[in-house]
Amino acid sequence: MSKVIAIDGPSGAGKSSVSRIVGEKLGFLHVDSGALYRIMTWQALEKKINTDDPEEVAKLATMVDIECRPEDGHIAYYVEGEAPGNKIRTPEINAHASKVATVKAIRDYVTNLLRGMTEYGDIVVEGRDITTAVFPDSPARFYLTASAEARARRRQKEEVEKGIANQSAEAVKASLLARDQIDSTRKYAPLKKADGAIEIDSSDLTLDEVVQLVMEKVNEAFG
Ligand code: DC
Repeated sequence: MSKVIAIDGPSGAGKSSVSRIVGEKLGFLHVDSGALYRIMTWQALEKKINTDDPEEVAKLATMVDIECRPEDGHIAYYVEGEAPGNKIRTPEINAHASKVATVKAIRDYVTNLLRGMTEYGDIVVEGRDITTAVFPDSPARFYLTASAEARARRRQKEEVEKGIANQSAEAVKASLLARDQIDSTRKYAPLKKADGAIEIDSSDLTLDEVVQLVMEKVNEAFG
């Protein structure tokens, strides 16, 4: 049986960096579940689907085929042979992704894909409902959080460094809080701390310190 490390938390809490490093250290494949919701959002916009209409969005679950492939320590995604890259990291995708992620048919499609990834080996999966809904039985479950200011600062820096956007810290914070609100109040699999998940507030911790904490707990969980 493959081992699963599950990491949930709001946008900008550091889930991606932590998951990637922990994955590298342990030889677990890194799985970015948010990218799957972003790909569905990208496809919705490409196909001119109104993201305010859940019935229209639900149709995407049978229209889009995301190919998942283990590659260089992570699971890579392709749509009709194309890797989405930074196309799924734009402010426009940010503005629509939470709405797409409220739709049950989309969540079911992504959840199935994620559960199937255990076939590829041990995985470290980050998202919003991994500890509560996708892999609730994992012995290594984390809720990673940080203050809204710290999260906005990190996201803004990342957007500038990657050349994705150049928004003010205030704009980044507003967009992030709007997504948090939708993600944590939706009907299906909302973002919340799972019972038994280990909570880490990274506001005043370095990346190395967070990784260290996670590694200790993972070692305890898997022996
Ligand atoms: O982590 P992210 O910002 O890339 O996620 C994009 C969107 O997908 C965000 O609105 C939250 C949603 N999401 C989700 O509902 N469930 C997950 N497991 C991962 C992401």
